[in-house]
Amino acid sequence: MSDFAQELFARTVAEPYRTKVVERIRLPDRAARAQILERAFYSPVMVDASDVYVDLITDSGSGAMSTQQWSGIMRGDESYIRSKSFFEFEQAVREVTGYRCAVPTHQGRAAEHILSELFVGPDQIVLANAHFDTTKANIENRGASAVDLVSDTLWKFREEEPFKGNFDLEKLQVALERYHERVPMIIITVLNNLACSAPVSMNNIIEVRRLADKYRIPVFFDAARFAENAYFIKTREQGFESRTVADIAREMLSYGHGCWMSAKKDALVNIGGFIATNDEALARRCQQKVVLYEGFYTYGGLARRDLEAIAIGLREGLEDDYLAHRTRLVAFLGDRIEQAGAVVSKPVGGSGVFVDVESIYPHLSADKLPGIALFCDLYLEGGIRAGASPFEMRTIDPKTGELISRLFQFARFAVPRRVYSRSHMEYVGHVVERVKQVAHMSRGYRIVEYPNVLGHFFSKFAPL
Ligand code: F0G
Repeated sequence: MSDFAQELFARTVAEPYRTKVVERIRLPDRAARAQILERAFYSPVMVDASDVYVDLITDSGSGAMSTQQWSGIMRGDESYIRSKSFFEFEQAVREVTGYRCAVPTHQGRAAEHILSELFVGPDQIVLANAHFDTTKANIENRGASAVDLVSDTLWKFREEEPFKGNFDLEKLQVALERYHERVPMIIITVLNNLACSAPVSMNNIIEVRRLADKYRIPVFFDAARFAENAYFIKTREQGFESRTVADIAREMLSYGHGCWMSAKKDALVNIGGFIATNDEALARRCQQKVVLYEGFYTYGGLARRDLEAIAIGLREGLEDDYLAHRTRLVAFLGDRIEQAGAVVSKPVGGSGVFVDVESIYPHLSADKLPGIALFCDLYLEGGIRAGASPFEMRTIDPKTGELISRLFQFARFAVPRRVYSRSHMEYVGHVVERVKQVAHMSRGYRIVEYPNVLGHFFSKFAPL
């Protein structure tokens, strides 16, 4: 018999949690918002969080912890060496990832830094479905190149391909044939964050591993959003419907030589990360680097209470009702933005909603910074913050084998976990609708200052 309540729960996007502590958020009035924008040089990263009503700049470390996690924080054993909390953490990483060795780091990029030092050298080429920008920066910092082999369907926002995060296997094959001697590792980013946070299918993962084995190249997972990826495999890939998400996640990771994770995403914590592998010699080398850069290898730059929170969050992040609600809420926001008349990458993925900026500002050429126009209009009209920056993807032309650059331009409305409700998402949808109506009046923006290093974090703009 069908379950009316379960069906209702799904349809209404009702939360599988209730509120115990509230945090006041404020919506400055329009005149104040205009002033705030001007004072912030029209830059998304210079507006104070306290001036933002709904903050969709990132889903990283911005989530709400559970009652269980807060109790874990109180239980934290703050011993410097081999604290009880480390063993809680190690046990959870083992259970959830299937890897025996767990090395904590203070967040994801610290793990990337360490693995890049161990694996990557000058003139090498690291292949991924797509690198997150800190991963790419860490690779480039070693004098190597990061090449993204995601399929071209990424650029076709309207095409409903369930696993747009996949490797284009033809590109991978060509890249390996031509460059395999220069490839120290292959990275599978699950979900493929910058590629519209689209998932990667199990089938694709298996094929990537098969090709990697042919050339004896290790495969690592960037597992920041591994639980959401596993949930999409369960709900979108044939043959996985009746498996648990935890089981799917372990199978996924079993095709890698190891993984690293920014725990600030699917482990539902505000800070933390780790490297995990079955290779004990590699784990030892990571531990040595951790001592150098992070702290003793049983705390990795974190307070021990943070390790408790990660241990609990890793398990909570795999719960079905949580993941069902999470993905529904993001999809709900995607529908509202689409109804507002913008083009959204379909089907909607995990970390947030990716929007084609050109569909809102068709009259603004790239040099007039339509992404900045969108950020400013969203803030001015509704006090919300989303991110929009074009980025240059290095990829391969499968016909010639040459490395080429291709621009990918999008806006990301990233949804923090367990923080905003459906009514906040409705509110955002209405703001986008309003922005869509006024967008034609925007004359665009110009760059006032854009430093060479990490320009997008330090830049200043002005309206044209
Ligand atoms: N890998 C992926 C796929 C990420 O999305 C991030 C961070 C990192 C690695 C780095 O982890 O922040 O803990 O050092 N992504 C955030 C975002 C910042 O907004 O998507 P970190």
